[in-house]
Amino acid sequence: MITAKTSLYGLIGNPVDHSVSPLMHNTAFKKLGIDAVYLAFKSENTEDTISALKTLGARGFNCTMPAKSDCAVLCDKLSEEAELTKSVNTVVVEGDKLTGHSTDGAGFFLNLKNNGVDYDKNILLLGAGGAARSIAARAVIENVPSLTILNRTVKKAKALADSLASYDTNINYGGLDELPEAVKKADIIINATSYGMGEDKSIVDGSLLRPDQVVCDIVYKPRETALLKAAKKAGCKTVDGLGMVACQAAYAFELWTGKEFPLGEILEVLEKN
Ligand code: ATR
Repeated sequence: MITAKTSLYGLIGNPVDHSVSPLMHNTAFKKLGIDAVYLAFKSENTEDTISALKTLGARGFNCTMPAKSDCAVLCDKLSEEAELTKSVNTVVVEGDKLTGHSTDGAGFFLNLKNNGVDYDKNILLLGAGGAARSIAARAVIENVPSLTILNRTVKKAKALADSLASYDTNINYGGLDELPEAVKKADIIINATSYGMGEDKSIVDGSLLRPDQVVCDIVYKPRETALLKAAKKAGCKTVDGLGMVACQAAYAFELWTGKEFPLGEILEVLEKN
């Protein structure tokens, strides 16, 4: 029940009406008996919306597109990943101080672990946008031995690789024309582009894939993308994007409440949604 003491959490961005975050966090609050509510706020101006949330005493919030980079500038403190990616998807509010985190990459790797995937391997990452940057930052923090970043726009892949150069991971970058060669050398292939979102087309030709490879897609609508279908056909282990969505929320929830997110139950809710 909402009371006079109910804590406020939320999501800011534009659009926000498709988001599953309110469903996930409100389900988790209810399950754990936490007196809190999570709402979605369509934001035309990130600075104004954040200021309004501070005035209202919000305890924390998520940021989605296009608020992620503006939010990073507006925070008082950033986590290592948020600093690396210059992007924030989770903010913890303490008094009038904002600490920004980027939990997408950590969520991605937690989901791999939950799916029994050992990621101490050669990783091929497709994309250099927000999601890819978050995954790449966490990959170097997790100390993966090798990371190849391929992107349609090569200069963005180069900028991402350069920004992570001080870490021990061996990083290569290039364009999508290098995909066939790079797939051969990869143990884990991650599609972090929007290619295949709502469409039945795969960024990797299934004939290039081998059964010893793991193929992941961050696209979760459709849940089984053309890439994952092709990978299954080639005998690969596949990891879909829905688990990452729940796992990034798990990190945010734990930062806000200090309590463990009921991940299994949330995944069930998402699957039915
Ligand atoms: P997100 O935050 O979801 O990562 P984004 O920052 O807009 O979204 O990034 C989208 C990614 O998908 C980029 O890597 C983009 O490639 P470019 O940097 O060249 O734009 C990639 N992408 C989108 N449409 C694509 C397509 N049709 N073919 C290949 N890559 C595509």
